[in-house]
Amino acid sequence: MPETDPLTWARDHTPVLESLREEFGESQPLSGYTVAFASHLEAKTGVAIETLHAAGAEVLFAPSEPQSTHGDVVDALEAHDGITAFAWEGMTDAEFDEAQHDLLEHEPDFILDDGCELIAKVHADHPEVAANVIGGGEQTTAGITRLEAMDEEGVLAFPVYGVNDTPMKHFFDNVHGTGESALTNVAITTNSLVSGRDVVVCGYGYCGRGIARKARGMGAQTIVTEADPRKALEAHMDGHRVMDMDEAAEAGELFITATGNRDVIRERHFERMPDGAVICNAGHFDVEIEVGALEALAEKTTTPKEGITRYHLPDGRELNLLAEGRLVNLTGPYSQGHPAEVMDTTFAMMFTAAYDMLADGTDLDPGLYTVPDRLDRAVASRKLDTLGLSTEGLTDRQQAYYEEWEHPDSSF
Ligand code: NAI
Repeated sequence: MPETDPLTWARDHTPVLESLREEFGESQPLSGYTVAFASHLEAKTGVAIETLHAAGAEVLFAPSEPQSTHGDVVDALEAHDGITAFAWEGMTDAEFDEAQHDLLEHEPDFILDDGCELIAKVHADHPEVAANVIGGGEQTTAGITRLEAMDEEGVLAFPVYGVNDTPMKHFFDNVHGTGESALTNVAITTNSLVSGRDVVVCGYGYCGRGIARKARGMGAQTIVTEADPRKALEAHMDGHRVMDMDEAAEAGELFITATGNRDVIRERHFERMPDGAVICNAGHFDVEIEVGALEALAEKTTTPKEGITRYHLPDGRELNLLAEGRLVNLTGPYSQGHPAEVMDTTFAMMFTAAYDMLADGTDLDPGLYTVPDRLDRAVASRKLDTLGLSTEGLTDRQQAYYEEWEHPDSSF
């Protein structure tokens, strides 16, 4: 049997993380710090954890979703001294909770989070630990929403960078990563075409617009539902059909939620859906599809294929739910999360958040912060370098033109 390392392929396709390991492997700027890392524990996350460790950090890691952990990745990481797992494959929701509390009792200096579970728990249940945390970073939209609420209430005990809100994160990870990986996993789980189908995408934010554009690129007829009138208009002008959820429930065949909100598809919508509809979620938490209502409507459930739960309704219709309504691109039986190339820059931004506060001397008061633009540009430049692409350098006259308001050379 050839030797296998579950991180090899991810390492091969994350050149920005490789450049960080090369740059900081010797100087070890994170040495002496303990960094907690919560994310979906699959191969790319493994490489991100290796990168923090290579830069000198002791790393404690836990999942950000109980069902997305890959056991071989956990085992490979645990083989390193200075990396400790609070995770295993097949955790229950209660074990997930307990493991996160265990991690926090090890008193991390910095918390890199995905969904704000660790950061919320440290504030709610371990205030003495929170008081000594230097800072944090948050990777996803759902986590930013929670952090905004914490910031608003003035309860944050340390500064947190909103990594999700950087252009280098949401323009690539949310749009292209979620777009491709959600559809890939729908196609693999159902072994059915996306092409030619009526696909309803709920939410036209960064993730939803990526899913809708890519579904159309695959030949689907796309329908978008939105709560924000500007996003609804954008979806219309991008060429998608826009309707409310009642109408979309009747018109769609495949439904994908990506809103960061709850009960987006609920009882009244299940009642309108056609026989054979396929329903799944790409939002962070498993609350976007009201699964309890579907269970209550059904006479029985069966499993026609791994990863698919079929709800048999009394009127004879059968509705198919993928991955139990959890993140379809991360928790289905074949799910591997986003393509490595986008996680390369997402995790480089997370590394940068930790580096900036721990090693570069940035000292901030407690609160939620935008990552400085110069750090975002630096990761973009690293990525372009790895792709062998260059940007246009501005001449002095061009730079000056941006900075002046009188425009003396204009002819009008
Ligand atoms: P976003 O804030 O850019 O977009 C969400 C959109 O949903 C907004 O335009 C909002 O108006 C709309 N919306 C809210 N309630 C709605 C409803 N009831 N019906 C229709 N539209 C509604 O957020 P983004 O970045 O697109 O993230 C969406 C979710 O996806 C979040 O939970 C985020 O954490 C998650 N996410 C998942 C990833 C994955 O790997 N599957 C990757 C990145 C983010």
